[in-house]
Amino acid sequence: MSDKPFESDFTQAEIDALYKTIFNRRDVRGQFTSEPVSDEVLSRLLYAAHHAPSVGFMQPWNFMVIRSDEVKSRVHDAFEAANEEARQMFEGERRELYSSLKLQGILDAPVNICITCDRERVKGPVLGRTHIKTMDLFSTVCAVQNLWLAARAEGIGMGWVSIVEQDRLRQALAIPDDIVPIAYLCVGHVSHFNDEPELQKKGWRSRLPLADLVYFDQWQQGPGEDEGLLEQLQKNQGFPEGFIKLP
Ligand SMILES: Cc1cc2nc3c(=O)[nH]c(=O)nc-3n(C[C@H](O)[C@H](O)[C@H](O)COP(=O)(O)O)c2cc1C
Repeated sequence: MSDKPFESDFTQAEIDALYKTIFNRRDVRGQFTSEPVSDEVLSRLLYAAHHAPSVGFMQPWNFMVIRSDEVKSRVHDAFEAANEEARQMFEGERRELYSSLKLQGILDAPVNICITCDRERVKGPVLGRTHIKTMDLFSTVCAVQNLWLAARAEGIGMGWVSIVEQDRLRQALAIPDDIVPIAYLCVGHVSHFNDEPELQKKGWRSRLPLADLVYFDQWQQGPGEDEGLLEQLQKNQGFPEGFIKLP
């Protein structure tokens, strides 16, 4: 075993580009334009999603590309029903604020993509999934994130719609019972990207300070001697001024 660590083979500009993508990715609901997403771009996004990590290299995903207005409208109906139920779960001012939020762009986005998980893609035991069966679901979420980041880098917006009954989604898309719809995504060109999460902007919830979320060696334990990391987390986290919004 060599002691010499691998040095990044990314240029500083490439490293910055990756962080820029991460910090500027947004959930997009309201800023879609009608311009179609070209097949070239869409295929790159799906290709990026397909290169996500997956437990035992299971690749449990399928990607349903939805352009039909009729299908979109069925999903939109399912969203409307679930959203009304959701609205009732909040009270007073929160309910009013909830009602004012736009939480999907199903009909506005030129393309919708449903990413599903086939839990039986590999027959018999799956390497790495022998003890925690939900690892296939988590793998599929990794594909969603890859797509989201690739889309942002291409200037394409994406929004995740989860306010929908899973069975109604299955029905709308003719997905069999043994396949799990993981993410219903609205994808398209946008007029602009917001510089902070919409929920934060509208006063629903703010980003938590990262330093409060990091524990050392044991649950909820502070840094002890290892204060350097905590100090870094509380400061600029090593990023140039203005590179990311703090906290
Ligand atoms: C699993 C998951 C489900 C989500 N479902 C919805 C949704 O149904 N509607 C919505 O407007 N946003 C949804 N979002 C987006 C979040 O609200 C958003 O990621 C969060 O507010 C942070 O904003 P940002 O993604 O712009 O950084 C979802 C995000 C995730 C990861």
